[in-house]
Amino acid sequence: MSRTVVTFGTFDVFHVGHLRILERARSHGDRLVVGVSTDALNIAKKGRPPVYSQQERMEIVAALRCVDATFYEESLELKGQYLRQYAADVLVMGDDWAGRFDQYGDTCEVVYLPRTPAISTTEVIEKIRD
Ligand code: CTP
Repeated sequence: MSRTVVTFGTFDVFHVGHLRILERARSHGDRLVVGVSTDALNIAKKGRPPVYSQQERMEIVAALRCVDATFYEESLELKGQYLRQYAADVLVMGDDWAGRFDQYGDTCEVVYLPRTPAISTTEVIEKIRD
C-alpha cells in the first residue's frame, strides 16, 4: 500500500530549510502532496503579502523532485478537509508547530520534524534589507 504524505507552508523566498523539510517529509511515505498557502491567507496572517506570488511559490515547489502534487491552502481551518481530500496517511509539519496539529491524529499520523537551524524567510529578507 502506498503512503501519502501531506505538508503545508508558504515557501516564500525558497531556501534550504524548505528543501530539507520537503525531502524529509517525502521519506515518510511514497508520495508527497504540498499545500502552498495563498497570498490572501498570508496577508490575513502576517499583514503583508509574500515576496513571491502564490503562482510562483507553487511553481517552484511543484518542480522539486521530491514533490508529487501541490494545491493551494486557502484557509488554516480547512486542514482536516485537505487531509481527507488528498487521502493523507501522514501529516508532516515543522516542529515550530509541535503539538498544534495533534487533533488530526484521528485522520492520519501526525509527524513534527525539526527545523533546519538558523534560516528562515524572515531572516533572509532582513539580511538582504540590511
Ligand atoms: N522550515 C524548516 N526549517 C527552516 C524554515 C522552515 O524546516 N529553517 C519548514 C517549516 O517548519 C515549515 C516549512 O518549512 O514546515 C515552510 O515554512 P515557512 O513558514 O514557509 O518558512 P519560514 O522560513 O519559516 O518562513 P517565515 O520566516 O516567514 O516564518
